[in-house]
Amino acid sequence: MLVLGVESSCDETGLALYDTQRGLLSHALHSQVAMHEEYGGVVPELASRDHIRRAIPLLEQVLGKGGVEGSAIDAIAYTQGPGLAGALLVGASVACGLGLALDKPVLGVHHLEGHLLSPLLATDPPAFPFVALLISGGHTQLMRVDGVGRYALLGETLDDAAGEAFDKSAKLLGLGYPGGPAISRLAEFGDPGVYQLPRPMLHSKDLNFSFSGLKTAVLTLVHNQIANICEQDKANVARAFVDAIVEVLVAKCLAALKQTGLKRLVIAGGVGANRQLRAALNEAASRRGFKVYYPELEFCTDNGAMIAFAGAMRLQIDPQAAQRDYGFNV
Ligand code: KG4
Ligand code: ZN
Repeated sequence: MLVLGVESSCDETGLALYDTQRGLLSHALHSQVAMHEEYGGVVPELASRDHIRRAIPLLEQVLGKGGVEGSAIDAIAYTQGPGLAGALLVGASVACGLGLALDKPVLGVHHLEGHLLSPLLATDPPAFPFVALLISGGHTQLMRVDGVGRYALLGETLDDAAGEAFDKSAKLLGLGYPGGPAISRLAEFGDPGVYQLPRPMLHSKDLNFSFSGLKTAVLTLVHNQIANICEQDKANVARAFVDAIVEVLVAKCLAALKQTGLKRLVIAGGVGANRQLRAALNEAASRRGFKVYYPELEFCTDNGAMIAFAGAMRLQIDPQAAQRDYGFNV
């Protein structure tokens, strides 16, 4: 079965072709980062308009790279949500329009399910069951994953998502958008322990998170220092922030593994690209005897491959899941 995936939930237009026999045939992505950079964040209206411009050229690219005709596609999976309404509507319209034109069924996929399953696209994919830490710009969740569609929420953030904390703290330090990679790079030059930031809910008995206090602590620190903050001090604050958030994320993962008794941990979502988090998790894994799995770096952040893949997995379980009802729903 050949599935076309369409992702347009935020500021990346991603298309991909996944074949259940042959694997990922092709994928193409256009990132709008440069366009939103000057505004310091995603401008929803601009995002929607750019998705419109990019979708069809990217479709032509994936068909060309995959060496297939549009008529060979068996079903089209698109990101149904969550995401920016206008941006989602573009992807849904493209998918439903193609479905109607090609007389192929379409399937709405949950964006987070795409992220959650993305490590299964890697060359050494994890077997079920596993614990998954889903850390994106909008979500922070720990899940127990027993199979495709068999997910149990173990814990989640009570306020800001991890990616949001990265982005907002980076903004406070005057770093560009997206802030996650920028604050991570700067932290490499920071000295540890110069500043102490809180580790929210580190010792709570549950698997929930809270990051808004951490962001506020960065705000307080920066406001107190902003008049005379030098580059090294900025790097020290970045280091303190990264150390705090990484410690909390790692501790909660360890607690989730202990609670479930599982030995496989999957990291998914944009923050999963973070270098310091990966280093800390890898070290904990080798010390404690569990295995940690990541998506390929290019599939950590939003992409079409994870949507094509999640759609294909859903259709393998339930071939009726895709419909010729083009009254889409985002
Ligand atoms: O999964 P994603 O691409 O989009 C959402 O579904 O939200 O995640 C985007 C988030 C942003 O907050 C971005 O700053 C963060 O992932 N991110 C990172 C890194 N790369 C992306 N955060 C920390 N370190 C990184 N290297
Ligand atoms: Zn995402």
